[in-house]
Amino acid sequence: AQPRPLAGKRVLVTAGPTHEPIDPVRYIANRSSGKQGFAIAAAAQTAGADVTLISGPVDLDDPKGVTVRRVESAREMLHRVEAALPVDIAIFAAAVADWRVANEGEQKLKKTSAGMPPLQLVENPDILATIAKLADKRPPLVIGFAAETEHLIDNAKAKLARKGCDWILANDVSPATGVMGGDRNTIHLLTREGAEINVDSWPVMTKEQVAAALVARIAKTAEK
Ligand code: C5P
Repeated sequence: AQPRPLAGKRVLVTAGPTHEPIDPVRYIANRSSGKQGFAIAAAAQTAGADVTLISGPVDLDDPKGVTVRRVESAREMLHRVEAALPVDIAIFAAAVADWRVANEGEQKLKKTSAGMPPLQLVENPDILATIAKLADKRPPLVIGFAAETEHLIDNAKAKLARKGCDWILANDVSPATGVMGGDRNTIHLLTREGAEINVDSWPVMTKEQVAAALVARIAKTAEK
């Protein structure tokens, strides 16, 4: 039989991009495929956890045995995440849009002689930071990602502090790495050890291998 180190644990995973509507037919999005988050949800399920996966629009099938909630926008994702609490472990792998359109059109925007319509952007809620700073329902282990194109470790350390999470998986998403939309990932796992931050650099792996390694690391922490 499979070892089930996360049996009895409730795990929440966010994945994919978000779509922020401009008008009824247009949206702002990003290149996230959802593959890493889906792989983590599947690996946690295999390890025996009760997994809820909250995903933006992606072209991936539901992982077997996982409760999947499909959403579009960042605000919808936040509401679904809040509704899924309490959990033991929350992993935020979604590439949430930082901004949404403030003046969303009720009708399809038309070309006019006045030129291009101005899009006003407002900041979206930071889902990871919101959940990591909850007074009552903060999950005991909150894990985020830091996708960076430069100063990877320093930016990830700053993010760990700013967002209030426990661990961060930092990955280089420069176009040359092929991480965005690709099948492989190179991870540096930052964990808080008291006042110190420990950095563990993993070799290049498939996104499934990253998911398995993360779940193994969570299992090791959970048994302490
Ligand atoms: O600030 P940045 O987008 O680089 O942070 C990345 C981490 O924060 C990821 O774990 C991502 O899922 C999470 N995040 C979020 N809500 C946002 C922005 C980022 O949960 N609005």
